[in-house]
Amino acid sequence: MAKLTVNGRAYFVDDAPDTPLLWVLRESLQLTGTKFGCGGGYCGCCTVHINGEAMRSCRIRLADVEDAIVTTIEGLDVSTNHPVQKAWIKMQVPQCGYCHSGQIMQAASLIKENPNPSDEDIEIGMRGNLCRCMTYVRIKDAVKYAASISRGEVSND
Ligand code: FES
Ligand code: FES
Repeated sequence: MAKLTVNGRAYFVDDAPDTPLLWVLRESLQLTGTKFGCGGGYCGCCTVHINGEAMRSCRIRLADVEDAIVTTIEGLDVSTNHPVQKAWIKMQVPQCGYCHSGQIMQAASLIKENPNPSDEDIEIGMRGNLCRCMTYVRIKDAVKYAASISRGEVSND
């Protein structure tokens, strides 16, 4: 049995040590907010936070996270009050929505590291998260807006 901590809760799973974290989350823990896209680290759909850093869960093995703190979209803010969640709703960013749990997790990590990102910072920070519906303009606007909320410049209502 492997022990892992996800969204503040300890879990024991009997998956093989080399099982991708994405499948542990989706299949064993039924945390299906994290999506499968490419399985190869190219699309960003599966992005979660590991010790606060955005990482691709399809490329992380269960054995690599036994002592780590994992946060998924379900645990980012259960009240959906995270500035990125607020901004995504305000800007109506998603189209089909499939890529957006990964986009949101990546954006949350980005503004934590860089509270006042420029357009270029956002393009670089988000470029590994692909969107087949081409919502990139709204994503950029929403990341800026989320950063403004985080800096206290606009209300988080
Ligand atoms: S599913 Fe992990 S990066 Fe595409
Ligand atoms: S909103 Fe459809 S893939 Fe991004």
